[in-house]
Amino acid sequence: MNFFIPLLLILLNISFSNDIYVNNVLDNNIIESLKQEKYYIDYNLDKYIDYSILNSNSYDIVREVNVGLFRDYYKNMVESDISKDKLVLVNKYHYLTPKYIPSDLEILSNDCSIGINNYLRHEAKEEFEKLCNDAKKEGINIYNLSAYRSYEKQLKIYNNKLKTSDINTVEKISARPGCSEHQTGLTVDINLLSKEFDKTNEYYWMINNSYKYGFIQRYPKDFEKITGYDYEPWHYRYVGQEVATKMHDENITFDEYYAYYIDYN
Ligand code: DAL
Ligand code: ZN
Repeated sequence: MNFFIPLLLILLNISFSNDIYVNNVLDNNIIESLKQEKYYIDYNLDKYIDYSILNSNSYDIVREVNVGLFRDYYKNMVESDISKDKLVLVNKYHYLTPKYIPSDLEILSNDCSIGINNYLRHEAKEEFEKLCNDAKKEGINIYNLSAYRSYEKQLKIYNNKLKTSDINTVEKISARPGCSEHQTGLTVDINLLSKEFDKTNEYYWMINNSYKYGFIQRYPKDFEKITGYDYEPWHYRYVGQEVATKMHDENITFDEYYAYYIDYN
């Protein structure tokens, strides 16, 4: 018995330090591959390592952690930083308060809009009308169906959807009030609220030209996990020409752009 306990302790210790060694080598390998990723953010390193238990692909780890997916949607939410102006982020982790109403909303010209939700912020409105008029010269008809929506309007839309669909479906197609980009006055739904829109010439024209006017497709196909929403070929967001061009060139969503280039919180 006298010999047994020290021997056991030595064996346990050897096995324990072996585990630490193996874990360190693993961690170092993971860290090295994470650091190779284009959108790696040093501040997120601990979160990347925790997240690697769920997903071992460093490309996925970096982009998913960067946009906040290490936690459930709507958990530990942050108030949207409206001082970022046209680059304000609104999503399932960043919300606008019910009181937020942009101060420079302007009505869109009837040539470029139908319906009643036809207000955009000044700069977005100017650029959208330019886009709409230039497209017309090429025989392409782009028009707004729904632009600025107040918190209360979004609440009604969200609750109405809940009357006909289950919560999981609604969460993928409609933002909770406070979490809709339409409240920013920088967003516009165009032409046809159906996935069939991506079979039209108008859709292709937008894909190839909208960034030149500062608009980006906000919920693209194959990015559903990153954005938290189903593909919406009709939903465009104004971010200004410079950022839109960079996002277009790098093929990233605004959630990813914001995390890497603007603010990782
Ligand atoms: N359909 C988008 C996600 C919204 O409700 O703002
Ligand atoms: Zn929309």
